[in-house]
Amino acid sequence: MAETITITDDRTGKQVTVPLEHGTIPSSALRELDPDLRVYDPAFMSTASCSSTITLVDGDAGILRYRGYPIEQLAESSTYLEVAYLLLHGELPTKDQFEDWRHEVTIHTYVHEKVKSFIDGFHYDAHPMGVLVSTVAALSTFYPDAKSIFDESSRMKQVIRLIAKMPTLAAFAHRYSVGQPFVYPDNSLDYASNFLSMMYQTVEPRFDANPALAKALDVLFILHADHEQNCSTTAMRTVGSSQADPYSATAAAAAALYGPLHGGANEAVIRMLQRIGSVDQVPAFIESVKQGEGRLMGFGHRVYKSYDPRATIVKQTADEVFEITGSNPLLDIALQLESVALSDDYFTERKLYPNVDFYSGLIYQAMGFPLEMFTVLFAIPRTSGWLAHWIELLGDKEQKIARPRQKYVGAEERPYVPLDDR
Ligand code: CMC
Repeated sequence: MAETITITDDRTGKQVTVPLEHGTIPSSALRELDPDLRVYDPAFMSTASCSSTITLVDGDAGILRYRGYPIEQLAESSTYLEVAYLLLHGELPTKDQFEDWRHEVTIHTYVHEKVKSFIDGFHYDAHPMGVLVSTVAALSTFYPDAKSIFDESSRMKQVIRLIAKMPTLAAFAHRYSVGQPFVYPDNSLDYASNFLSMMYQTVEPRFDANPALAKALDVLFILHADHEQNCSTTAMRTVGSSQADPYSATAAAAAALYGPLHGGANEAVIRMLQRIGSVDQVPAFIESVKQGEGRLMGFGHRVYKSYDPRATIVKQTADEVFEITGSNPLLDIALQLESVALSDDYFTERKLYPNVDFYSGLIYQAMGFPLEMFTVLFAIPRTSGWLAHWIELLGDKEQKIARPRQKYVGAEERPYVPLDDR
């Protein structure tokens, strides 16, 4: 028998019985009791804002699956482009479907030449994430057909353009910030190798990245591709719900990702490790965190109350990368931090474990990416997740423009006092 929950309004004695499905009850139950009743839920701690078939995160068990496939299997055997297809279409592609998809994404990697002059307008030391947010938003002006969001073929065209052009915009943002000429995409290369070529090519006619490093980057792209209703995906859905074009919605999502509590955490982790400076300073740092003088960046998660499964894979990938690049000198501090934190009551009682960002920055740094590029490296693959949610939103008959209510706690009505009388 289906489980139900009965809610009683003690003021009136009225009762409503609602089904409990997938751990949720419909908010319509409250409206039925009293149309003016609201749930006060800051930061959406107890709100399921949509039904979704894309990604499952089981925070207690430390499970992450895209469309039912365990993240460990995808990281081991798939590629980022295949995972992007899976997120967007719901199924793994056949060989032909994958070849078409790979071809389409590959031939859309170039950006309009005017985008370069747009980037030229930024100050020489502009943060590449700021440049990325702005240039993604600017793409909407290059593709006015993107406004036809209910035209399926136009919609898929924008999806392909976005996934294809994000690495180009990201690499251009980097090249500009270091005063180097832009490198155009090399469409004979795979997705990750092409990005590395646009990042690092200098005088050589063709840049061939170390295949093991390109593979490691591709694995990191898989791990970052989606994570259900996180802050940036919620931004994507909220802006998308007003029927804005996907470039504007993606720019909003990228802006949400920029914050240090979300995608900015990988950059913040390295800055934290640099501040700590040496292994013997770890206990003092942990003590300062416990005194509330800052957070242990790369630790804790709203949903995971055990080890983030992505962090386990990142840690393995780090070992593989360091075999090629040599170890990152900050690794010892990170390992010691993890070991001290995981045996300290403050962290265990609050169920604070390493998240995906704790070790990813160490890999990026070993691969030569500047700190400012770390969040950009998160934004590139997360674009496929954002777009999968955007498409799901547009097809969801239960969705409307996102418009939460509030608990007004401000002043009662009062008369305006002219400036001279104040
Ligand atoms: N270091 C020290 N204390 C922490 C940390 C941390 N990293 N994270 C949470 N806490 C404490 C917090 O002070 C609070 O303690 P108390 O109950 O005594 O007030 C308790 O744990 C619960 O914290 P919260 O802020 O209510 O938890 P939340 O679910 O709102 O926050 C979080 C989740 C990820 C924002 C937070 O854990 C955090 O700030 N972590 C550091 C930043 C970080 O690594 N972010 C990356 C997240 S994973 C990738 C992504 O989503 O982008």
